Amino acid sequence: HKLKPFNTLRLDSVCERYVPINSLSDLESLPRDLKVSDMLILAGGSNVLLSPVINRLVAHIQPRNHIQIVDNLVVAWAGTSWHELVVWAVSKQLGGIENLALIPGTVGAAPIQNIGAYGVEIKDVLAWVEIYNWHTGGYHRLSNEDCHFSYRHSLFRYHDQPWIISRVGLDLRPNRPVNLSYPALNQYLSDNKNPSYADVAKAVTEIRQSKLPNPTQLPNAGSFFKNPVIDRHQAEKLAAKHKKIPLYPVPNKPDIKKTSAAWLLEKCHFKGKRHGDAGFYDKHALILVNHGRATHQDIFTLIQSAKKAVKSKFGITLEEEVRIV
Ligand code: FAD
Ligand code: EPU
Repeated sequence: HKLKPFNTLRLDSVCERYVPINSLSDLESLPRDLKVSDMLILAGGSNVLLSPVINRLVAHIQPRNHIQIVDNLVVAWAGTSWHELVVWAVSKQLGGIENLALIPGTVGAAPIQNIGAYGVEIKDVLAWVEIYNWHTGGYHRLSNEDCHFSYRHSLFRYHDQPWIISRVGLDLRPNRPVNLSYPALNQYLSDNKNPSYADVAKAVTEIRQSKLPNPTQLPNAGSFFKNPVIDRHQAEKLAAKHKKIPLYPVPNKPDIKKTSAAWLLEKCHFKGKRHGDAGFYDKHALILVNHGRATHQDIFTLIQSAKKAVKSKFGITLEEEVRIV
């Protein structure tokens, strides 16, 4: 089965066994005896780098929106489009996810890396995650705390449990104050005294469209690396040597700082750099793009040389944000 149409980097990839998942009953029909390492759950394919051959069963969550309000929570099926959920919430005047407009992919994938943008992460509004356990055939709910969320991280990122996220419950409310903590967003809305959720979603959409390549026009998977988190001493040393290095505080963690992977890559001359058809986007150094026929080799050569350069200039090890399968 060809997976090229199902990954936003548009890489050639095939798998032997493929099962489309449309519903809970499709989940329940999955083989119970499969090891975790023998299954790949694929949804929108916007955060994966797929190898040429996937020797696993690919369970492909199909796009289908299903949104309900249950006990004052917004409950959505895993295959619901994340952005369409944002549009729906904004149209109902429910606040909490308007800053996360235009993030590609599905609701079920959103908790995996605790999606975040413009000052908000899904963990800020997530009430629970329902998982289907394909070994036992049962469902189980995890609370927000159970999920161990932090920046681009959750319990689910280890991929070591026989779990598929089936539904997510979000606490979206009509009276939530808007979050304008992200400087670029604040500046964009500086003329608006009382922005609505719709104004925030529109501003985020416009900012994103001005900097990120649309994957249908220039295949990519968003930020390729995470923004590195470094300890305060290393941050001070780096700031003494590189006056303009961006350093951001990490909430509740005074001993660490976050820096910008895009800045580090740009300073190492990787912005716009290509190897074959793989490249770093010329308007944003953190986005790895496929200019047409990038091979896995092109991509790995480029990312290895980028990691090496950043390590040798700044002593920082970049860590992939995209899941390499
Ligand atoms: P996939 O890529 O299909 O899967 C991602 C991972 O989740 C895989 O490990 C997969 O096995 C697992 N998975 C998917 N669904 C399930 C499920 N139901 N149960 C268990 N495991 C599952 N991310 C951000 O956080 N912030 C951004 O601002 C952002 N901007 C982006 C911009 C662009 C242009 C692109 C292309 C990507 C961006 N991303 C961003 C990354 C991506 O959109 C998110 O990671 C998104 O949640 C991935 O959803 P998906 O359905 O495409 O998941
Ligand atoms: N910058 C450069 N060169 C560039 C681009 C950016 O030096 O080519 C510097 C600038 O100093 C800029 C800073 O990087 O101020 C931050 O850039 P930006 O606001 O674009 O954010 P980012 O750190 O690159 C992160 C997330 C995005 C998210 C945005 C907005 C990560 C890994 N990425 O990007 O998420 O949309 O913030 O909140 O945390 C994704 O995860 O796929 C993703 C796109």
